[in-house]
Amino acid sequence: MSLQVMKDDFLAIQEQALTAIATASDLQGLEQVRIQYLGKKGPITEILRNVKNLDPSERPQVGALANELRKRIEEELSKAKESLEAAALLQALEDEKIDVTLPGRPLVSGTSHVLAQVSDLVEDFFIGLGYQVVEGPEVESDHYNFEMMNLPKDHPARDMQDTFYITQDYLLRTQTSPVQARTMEKHDFTKGPLKMISPGRVFRRDNDDATHSHQFYQVEGLVVDKNITMADLIGTLEAFSKHLFGEDREVRLRPSYFPFTEPSLEVDISCFKCGGQGCSVCKGSGWIEILGSGMVHPNVLEAAGVDSSVYGGFAFGLGQDRVAMLKYGIEDIRALYTNDIRFLSQFTGKE
Ligand code: DAH
Repeated sequence: MSLQVMKDDFLAIQEQALTAIATASDLQGLEQVRIQYLGKKGPITEILRNVKNLDPSERPQVGALANELRKRIEEELSKAKESLEAAALLQALEDEKIDVTLPGRPLVSGTSHVLAQVSDLVEDFFIGLGYQVVEGPEVESDHYNFEMMNLPKDHPARDMQDTFYITQDYLLRTQTSPVQARTMEKHDFTKGPLKMISPGRVFRRDNDDATHSHQFYQVEGLVVDKNITMADLIGTLEAFSKHLFGEDREVRLRPSYFPFTEPSLEVDISCFKCGGQGCSVCKGSGWIEILGSGMVHPNVLEAAGVDSSVYGGFAFGLGQDRVAMLKYGIEDIRALYTNDIRFLSQFTGKE
């Protein structure tokens, strides 16, 4: 192989290499080109192997040409690499483009049930006054639901609460009042007064309609200590009514009858809708009945083992359904139990 042939070969290699570089469409292809032309098995190495056959004076020229060719190919490779990288970056930016003007997807969050919200409101108030929150069983014995609450078997007031009996002795509790007896029995009065509320579900054998439901919710309240007077009852319920229905509420007490309290009271508040003028919410009277209460009957204390000559107390019972219906203008109690999300999602707890 003569010097001239080698020179021609070099030129041919350069041309091929530059074309291959120019047409490489990605970085991987470019790397293939590099290996093909500059690698150990490439054509330049191949030519250099024949240098030994040349006249020694011609040899340096071939070495210089080979180096030049290598350099040229390397330069072109690195230029092509740069522009392919830039193109790859542009492509990535294009592919990953985010339209920041698109509206976000709303996160839907649930709310607690409106009845749970009322319970929370009640609990907040009484926990703040140091009451404990106690739960009792929904399947209750006749003993606790009635007998312990001063309602013996033949007592006519049992008719006030139509009962789902399971057996002769067990029933679905008709009221949260039995939790009073359960808690009093266990309470150690040497350690201090008993102050409790008990929210929960109760059951009555009623036909469901707009104002009756066979299940509903109550909160029971009970305070037992020495020297508890009716002033304690009135002060507590007045503050509680304002917590539930607003500071401007006035409270009115009416004598009533419950077997477990003596005397018994019904508590009315001045109508929060019309302020007492008379409207559809208060049925024109200006007052709304919100709870039953009274001074704990000595029989109830004694039945639970509490000495009624030393201790006395007050109790109250409130219906969450009624509070929710009044507060939010709900006209049909069944809406609280049919779990229609369109109805329930209106009560966000922020109103
Ligand atoms: N248990 C009564 C009812 O279901 C409500 C009630 C009234 C509870 C007066 C009380 C109370 O503790 O003192 O109608």
